Amino acid sequence: MNKIIIKNANIVTESEVFTGDVLINGEVIECIGRNIDCPDAEQIDASGRLLLPGAVDVHTHMDLDVGIARACDDFYSGTVAAVCGGTTTIVDHMAFAHEDVSLMHQVEEYHRLADGNAVTDYGFHGVLQLMNDDKLAEMRAIAEREGITSWKAYMTYGANMTDDEWLFKVLRNANEAGLVIPVHCENDAVVETLKAEFGAAGKLQPRFHPLSRPAGAEAEAVSRLLHLARLAGDAPAYIVHLSAAESLKEVSKARHAGQKHFGVETCTQYLALTDAAYDDDSEGLKAIMSPPLRRDSDCSAIWAALAKGGMIDTIATDHCPFTFGEQKQLGRSDFRKCPNGAPGVEERLGVVYSEGVAKGRISLPQMVKYLCTEPARIFGLYPKKGAVLPGSDADLVIMDPDAKRIMSIKDMHTACDYTCYEGIELTGRIEKVFVRGRLAAENNEFTGSRGYGQYLRRGVSSLI
Ligand code: URP
Ligand code: ZN
Repeated sequence: MNKIIIKNANIVTESEVFTGDVLINGEVIECIGRNIDCPDAEQIDASGRLLLPGAVDVHTHMDLDVGIARACDDFYSGTVAAVCGGTTTIVDHMAFAHEDVSLMHQVEEYHRLADGNAVTDYGFHGVLQLMNDDKLAEMRAIAEREGITSWKAYMTYGANMTDDEWLFKVLRNANEAGLVIPVHCENDAVVETLKAEFGAAGKLQPRFHPLSRPAGAEAEAVSRLLHLARLAGDAPAYIVHLSAAESLKEVSKARHAGQKHFGVETCTQYLALTDAAYDDDSEGLKAIMSPPLRRDSDCSAIWAALAKGGMIDTIATDHCPFTFGEQKQLGRSDFRKCPNGAPGVEERLGVVYSEGVAKGRISLPQMVKYLCTEPARIFGLYPKKGAVLPGSDADLVIMDPDAKRIMSIKDMHTACDYTCYEGIELTGRIEKVFVRGRLAAENNEFTGSRGYGQYLRRGVSSLI
């Protein structure tokens, strides 16, 4: 069995930083301590380096088919990008099917897309559309059979959105069955009305995208979801990609009222980018995503909530890349026709470390909690994933905390042709990434192999 010992590292967990050694035996961490002696193991000196759990991104959209376009990262290029950026596990959100099919249809489709291609371990969130009583039962059956213990609902998305009646029924079903419901929260009536009005007025440049999806439309849906979850018996809802200070106020109200079983996710882009990205009529297409980028004051409010704790649980990416050269151009003369989404899986750890930890906004343990441990807990992967513990998978990242670099698409592995973070100066450099004991990336070179990633049957969420 392959043994590796990482010596003298500054090991970061969700609660502390301490200096020590980590012994990897095969695919798992065997032990952690001081002066571990194991002469038959390969030795890696990590003095002055950080050792983190491999990051867990619980919101990606690899190979997402949105009808007008298909996300340009498939499960191979997308997970190569992930691992080079320090993410060793993804939980991918499925696309809607283009017709009314069983829930199992998309599960099979996603195995076809991911199995044999992914280079990191991966799980799936199921997708809910055109709900009926049979599908409520099917959610439970698939959870048992496949370990798909979270099912995504959209409060806006044309015919595929889940209305309040079915959202309530889904939440009640989830509460009975011990499943989590990630929800895209935006008020559909507001968004569709504003989009139609901007269209009729010929206001079709990217700068009208954020105006058609105001922060209040998100906050209203967050509030409604939280009320429905409470009415369903404090059901385990999970708010995906929270982007606005106004939404945080709704989260705060629910937390203070004693609602316990819900989770909140934000994403890198709502921390590090603003709606200034829409000022340019051409480049603005790169940042068309839903919810849209917000004001600087929203970013500050989200950082402050992360620093304070108790409000937001995870930082994910909503990685959903479309090429600027071709795919994003579908929206050149009408922002409403632009495929929504942007890359982010490769950028997340670097940006959050640099903008968050190096700039003193959050601590190192907080970063590990939001990027690794809490996502693993909420989505039934802990302690196999998201932790540096004996018996956990040896998914590990070694980082130089002080190195400087400029982020640029030319150094990246995504199949996308741009990054929203082009040109920003980053502190910190990822040196080595291990996936289940195997070196998968070294100094920004992919060293793993196609298909090494394993499907993850997930267990019970910490929200239950
Ligand atoms: O703009 C976003 N969030 N794109 C991701 C794909 C989706 O449908 O959620
Ligand atoms: Zn998404």
